[in-house]
Amino acid sequence: MKTHTIALIPGDGIGRDMTAAAWSVLQKAAGKHGFGLKGTEFPWSCAFYKETGAMMPANGIEILRGFDAILLGAVGWPAEVPDSVSLHGLLLPIRKSFVQYANIRPHRLLPGVEGPLKATQFDILCIRENTEGEYSGAGGRIHQGSSDEVAVETSIFTRKGVERILRFAFEQARSRRGKLASVTKSNAQKYSMVFWDDVTRELSAEYPDVEVTSYHIDAMAARMVMAPESLDVVVASNLFGDILTDLGAAIQGGLGFAASANINPERNAPSMFEPVHGSAPDIAHLGIANPIATVWSGAMMLDHLGEKEAAAAIMKAIEATTASGIGTVPGKDRTDAITSALLAAI
Ligand code: NAD
Ligand code: IPM
Ligand code: MN
Repeated sequence: MKTHTIALIPGDGIGRDMTAAAWSVLQKAAGKHGFGLKGTEFPWSCAFYKETGAMMPANGIEILRGFDAILLGAVGWPAEVPDSVSLHGLLLPIRKSFVQYANIRPHRLLPGVEGPLKATQFDILCIRENTEGEYSGAGGRIHQGSSDEVAVETSIFTRKGVERILRFAFEQARSRRGKLASVTKSNAQKYSMVFWDDVTRELSAEYPDVEVTSYHIDAMAARMVMAPESLDVVVASNLFGDILTDLGAAIQGGLGFAASANINPERNAPSMFEPVHGSAPDIAHLGIANPIATVWSGAMMLDHLGEKEAAAAIMKAIEATTASGIGTVPGKDRTDAITSALLAAI
């Protein structure tokens, strides 16, 4: 029997319940489809930081490198550890070290879920650049605390980085409805974003079958709400993609539905699967968080590992669950009840 090795990082807050729920669904699907999943759990989190002074051990990345994939819940507990410490100590270094440059975030309305819009058609795929841009971590502060203080945060866009994410997005558009929306702010940002637009134009010659349109980020935010049916694949830089995918999550009914895959397309390091949402401190102890986003992310993981049938079976179980009215409205059903319904539908 083929067995895939998975590093499980539940992390903080609802991340723990969400990964536990997803893991039970993944195990059931694996059993039904004749393969194994061997999970190794790592307690790396803000609690781990408070005990050890680090979000993960110094060789954490090397430990993870040996796994076939990583399933992560959520990182961050800002009441106790600053986000700038926790995220730069765990989540962001994993994305960067394993060159998971393509962050795939599907947004569509599940059956039985009423989003806040009257949209009857909402099915877009956001492709977010995941290793550079506004998240490069280049910058600094001088004269800290004084009235002369200056803070600089530099976005770094490389030809290699921009070309590979755009190519990835063109390929995704080719396998869907053939439309690509490339998002920048090249009216105000005249170097990086004009460069991004230039590369988009250059590459479009190689993909004559893909209809590509460039939009400004502000106009795209409005378009996602006013005319989502006009969109298919949306590609954006790290920060713009981050913002658009919380918007996409809201349109699909809430953050409890939005899945995400941090992909290393070259497959020379593990990819990581996690929901779009965070640790949700406001509901963390209530047992009402929706596990569907993490379960869907788990289905993306199985798909990536070549277990296409099991991945499709999980997606069908998610759809059957929401179609029956379970897990459709934030806070209505408990995490356990939604997980039981998912397990029963597998
Ligand atoms: P959040 O995504 O945790 O929560 C935003 C809102 O969505 C909250 O009202 C929350 O209750 C709700 N929500 C989130 N997931 C839900 C679910 N599964 N079911 C129902 N409702 C859900 O964002 P935040 O409050 O800005 O961040 C909290 C912490 O998480 C911070 O430390 C932040 O940095 C971190 N964070 C981590 C990740 C990640 O690990 N990938 C992503 C986003 C935020
Ligand atoms: C996400 C999160 C992270 C991001 C944060 C927690 C650093 O918001 O995965 O969308 O901005 O990438
Ligand atoms: Mn985000």
